[in-house]
Amino acid sequence: MEQRQLIDLLNDMSLEEKAGQLFQVTGDWFDGMEALEQTGPEAEESARLRKSYGHLAGSVLGVYGAANIKRIQSAYMERQPHHIPLLFMLDIINGYKTIYPIPLAQGAMFDPEFAGDCAAMAAKEGAAGGLHVTFSPMVDLVRDARWGRVMESTGEDVYLNSLYAKSMVEGYQRQQGGTDFLAACVKHFAGYGAPEGGREYQTMELSNGTFHEFYLPAYESAVKAGSRMAMTAFQTVNGIPATVNRALLREILRGKMGFNGVLISDYAAIGETVVHGVSKDGADAARRALEAGVDIDMMSGVYPEYLVGLVKDGILEEALLDESVLRVLELKNWLGLFEDPFHGADEAREARTFLCEEHRKLAYEAAVKSFVLLKNEDAILPLSPNQKIAFIGPYTDSRDMLGSWSFTGGAETGEVKTVRAAAEEALAGWSVTYHTGCPVLDPGIVLEGFDRYKPSSATQEETDRWREEARKAAEEADVVVMPLGEHCFQSGEAASRAFIEIPKIQQDLFRAVSEVNPNVVAVVFSGRPLDLRVISERARAVLSVWMPGMEGGRAIIDVLTGTRTPSGKLPMSFPYCVGQVPVHYDSLMTGRPYRKGKPERYVSRYQDIPADPLYSFGYGLTYTSMELSEVRLSKNELMPGEEIEASVTIKNTGKREGTETVQLYLRDVTGSTARPVKQLKGLKRVTLQPGEEAKVAFSIGEDHLKFFQKPGLWDSEAGAFLVFIGTDSRTEHSAPFRLKKQEASENT
Ligand code: BGC
Repeated sequence: MEQRQLIDLLNDMSLEEKAGQLFQVTGDWFDGMEALEQTGPEAEESARLRKSYGHLAGSVLGVYGAANIKRIQSAYMERQPHHIPLLFMLDIINGYKTIYPIPLAQGAMFDPEFAGDCAAMAAKEGAAGGLHVTFSPMVDLVRDARWGRVMESTGEDVYLNSLYAKSMVEGYQRQQGGTDFLAACVKHFAGYGAPEGGREYQTMELSNGTFHEFYLPAYESAVKAGSRMAMTAFQTVNGIPATVNRALLREILRGKMGFNGVLISDYAAIGETVVHGVSKDGADAARRALEAGVDIDMMSGVYPEYLVGLVKDGILEEALLDESVLRVLELKNWLGLFEDPFHGADEAREARTFLCEEHRKLAYEAAVKSFVLLKNEDAILPLSPNQKIAFIGPYTDSRDMLGSWSFTGGAETGEVKTVRAAAEEALAGWSVTYHTGCPVLDPGIVLEGFDRYKPSSATQEETDRWREEARKAAEEADVVVMPLGEHCFQSGEAASRAFIEIPKIQQDLFRAVSEVNPNVVAVVFSGRPLDLRVISERARAVLSVWMPGMEGGRAIIDVLTGTRTPSGKLPMSFPYCVGQVPVHYDSLMTGRPYRKGKPERYVSRYQDIPADPLYSFGYGLTYTSMELSEVRLSKNELMPGEEIEASVTIKNTGKREGTETVQLYLRDVTGSTARPVKQLKGLKRVTLQPGEEAKVAFSIGEDHLKFFQKPGLWDSEAGAFLVFIGTDSRTEHSAPFRLKKQEASENT
């Protein structure tokens, strides 16, 4: 449709119809379908609203499948006064049918372009299944491993998150021909990743500088990449719930960032501003949210309930309503729904696209790339065919490795190959035994409210027997591989944890096994950084595999045996223990830094645990060894408009091929405000054969040196800088240079 036609359509709509366009409901509002994955309470007045708004609501969440969607769309359009199609939205977080690793694991690939390809694949499948919008990417920066939703983030670093934000938005929205794309919805604006105490839905308190410099850029990157939608956050920003925070949404998101797409609330979040104690009642909440620029009310029901009255009573201007409705119509038009309301949804296309070989390959590749080798004492990995291997641990036989958002992928189906099934296929001829060892969770643990969680039915006798069998198998093996970890529902939304260890029953199993056989290789499944002290101390090798998706089993076996080599890097620091969190590599410099190996009393440290995390951001081993030369700079003075080349030579000094991610960090030695210890500003993946070397170069310009000064102004400051190039954030390989700016009085 032409823009003019959209405006004519808008002008012809009744107030009720307009309010309807701004209301999103779950699928069960239509023809008795079951709602899928509701993530919040339904509006109290739901039954009544259903009657009056069932045929007017402009969008739906939680329904999928071409047949379902076509049926609902056709029936709806007949009743909708102007036959305006519905928008169908869903949380496609790490795949629709072909499930690839969770976003945190994608962060570990240190390969944003590849994540973009995964997003494009998810969009292709989602679109075949009738969907129009995915509520992704979540670009919230995270520093606290207690928060369950760190699994949905790409980690603690602003630079990396911004690259992923761009790439994922472009991936979902990639026009691959016809209707093979979705609209992206960047979320949760803003600062949802910093809940106090890591407790879900808790308020966040960040300084203005930290909020702008570290938390906001990834959203901006998604906006600049053209994200068609954005979602508000549940929590407050400067004391005002984000969903009704006019300064945040109108001034920063729409104003400074230039977002002109559709802004949706999070689930029931507009109505919940009453519970926050900020809106007086539903009508007040509706007014505030619309004034703040929120176009769609996801499920709280206050828009259909009150907007019409607010306009009729002269409290809200109809123009404000029109602005939002037009944005929704524009999105429908961008998707081509006025011409093809099904966006090409079709069962034959589903059959062709879902789980096709090309997609499974991509999921496999992503899994391989995301694994992080944390320890490999005496090169115990890769395994070799002449060893007797015992697989012991609950993830040996588990299919629950897709992450908590992948309900469309079907963990119960045979499509997910377990570690055991993959090993049986790949290790024919090897001497291998398999033992579950124990359930994932201790008996009696109930994950409250998780309908899809089925507690283990193993009795005490069974568990004792399993443990005994495991011990025996461990005694007889040369190497024990232990697939262990969190339950997949221990991370995700509403899954904050105060203790971030693997479940106790598995720790007991680990101890029992490692007592009789020291050659333990731990394969750790998790949706967050865990406290791995015990495992890391006693296992000879530790491989973090996150929630690796459908091809996880195969990828794990191939990496364990060296068919593929690990190359992942931590996108989030693994704390020494929970007492350290929040912990991240780019904290501001303190006046009393702790220096390793120099015990002093009055420095920034703990009495009872180390100051550093167990494994830092950017860390991850390969199966080979690499040596880096000193850092070379093409010059040591930089003027605005110029560039410095910073380079190293990297050499594979080991005996196997390896892929290393060379990382560039900068430190602003003196600034007008305290600056981070260092900040990631570049990364390059290089694959080298034994003995091979390569030059890795980065160019540094003034833009790399700019930081947040005040709203709307990022600027650099003349003075001294350090360039670090290394293979993780602890690198001390550095070289100095100075930024010269004629006009500025220098900070030296
Ligand atoms: C989550 C969102 C999600 C929405 C719809 C909410 O509870 O916070 O991230 O997109 O539900 O499922």
